[in-house]
Parts: sequence; structure tokens; C-alpha cells
Amino acid sequence: MDVYQAVRTRRAVRGFTDRPVPRETLERVLTAAAWAPSGSNMQPWRVFVVTGAPLAQLKKLAVERVAAGDPWDERQYEMYPPKPKSPYAERRSAFGKERYSALGIAREDWEARQRAAIANWDCFGASAALFCYIDRDLGAPQWADAGMYLQTVMLLLRAEGLHSCPQMAWSQVRTTVAEVVKPPAELILFCGMSIGYQDVALASPRTGRAPLDETVTFITD
Ligand SMILES: Cc1cc2nc3c(=O)[nH]c(=O)nc-3n(C[C@H](O)[C@H](O)[C@H](O)COP(=O)(O)O)c2cc1C
Repeated sequence: MDVYQAVRTRRAVRGFTDRPVPRETLERVLTAAAWAPSGSNMQPWRVFVVTGAPLAQLKKLAVERVAAGDPWDERQYEMYPPKPKSPYAERRSAFGKERYSALGIAREDWEARQRAAIANWDCFGASAALFCYIDRDLGAPQWADAGMYLQTVMLLLRAEGLHSCPQMAWSQVRTTVAEVVKPPAELILFCGMSIGYQDVALASPRTGRAPLDETVTFITD
């Protein structure tokens, strides 16, 4: 698989089979992903991979907690600005519309949306997950480094025939994740990532993208 194909075929997959992901595959991917760039080569990501019984336990704890309507954990970072401005607000709401209409859920059907959202904490059925932490003393450039690292992981997963879904949703129940992962106190949970084999029986609509000239400007002679 070439890089273009990996980029094109990567998408946030929200339906996986229960086929286990071999440990060697995950090690191969994470060994290669370590070559992702970072400012001054600080490599600020700290990753925990969870599979098997510990993942089953984490899914159970998290799904039960969310289903019971427990409040989210206190935030360690804001996922979005409180009132995103244009064009971000429009893009975000277009995404929400596409996602819920593909699931046949009406926008105002809050309960059905909650039911769909709860699949996040079941890793959408995936048999592996990783949790990406970052030291609380580090700043925006290091968070950007972590993003580059995570995209590198997701592209390498494509080369292995695997799919993924990055999930900030896990940060909402970070203390539940901590019960299983037991991270050092100085770390903040940025996001989780479900990893596995796509369940092709489930519809997985493609998201769109802004036209190139909305996000890229060429300055030439
Ligand atoms: C940092 C990050 C966090 C995300 N968190 C979630 C999440 O919690 N749940 C979810 O279903 N999708 C999540 N996504 C997936 C995005 O919704 C998805 O990447 C975006 O809509 C574009 O779609 P695509 O990845 O299929 O191209 C996240 C993506 C990123 C990069």
C-alpha cells in the first residue's frame, strides 16, 4: 500500500469485528511510528496499548458508567472552543448531520444520539485500543507532535490491513481509563484510539472535506 492509498483509505471506522489484533502487528506499527517527527525530537507522546481482559474490563466500566448517566470527569483540556466561529462551526455541524443521518437518527432524538455515542466506550467493538497521554507541563507544539504521531500510527495500521478511530471521547471518562492503565500522575489523557478489523457489514459513510482553496493558499510568482 502506498502512502496516498493509506491516507485515502484511513477513516474513522466505527464498527469493528472481534478478531484479535496480533501483538506483533501492534509492535511493528508502534516501532515504525516512533519515527514520527517532533520538535527537538522530544517525542512527547506516552502510549498505553490495551487488549484482552483489561480492555474488556475497561469497556465494561466505561459503558456502565456512561449508561448510568454519571457526570464526565473534570476536563484537563478543552476539546473545542465553547462557540466555534465560522467556518469551524458549520463544518462541525455538517459532520454531526451527516453522521446521525447515516445512522437514521433524527437530529433532535437525543436518546438515540446517546445510544450511538455510547459505542465509543465499547471501542466500536474493536479488540485493541491505545491511549495517548502527554505530560501536563508540555504545550501546544508538543500536542501537535502527538497528533503527527497518532496519524503516523493510523497510516501504518492501514498498511497492516487494520483500521482505527481516534477518540477524544475517552478523555471524558479519563479516571475510568486510569483505573486500568494506571498512568503516572504527571500525564494528561489526550485521546484513545480503537484499533481493529473493520466490520464491513456496517455502513461507514465517507466524510467530506473543504475545497483545497479554503484551507491552502499558494503564493508564487
Ligand atoms: C483528535 C481526534 C479526536 C476524535 N474523537 C472522536 C471521538 O471521540 N469519537 C468519534 O466517533 N470520532 C472521533 N474522531 C473522528 C473524527 O470525527 C473524524 O476524524 C472526522 O469526522 C473526519 O472523518 P474521517 O476520519 O472518517 O475522515 C476524532 C478525531 C480526532 C482527530
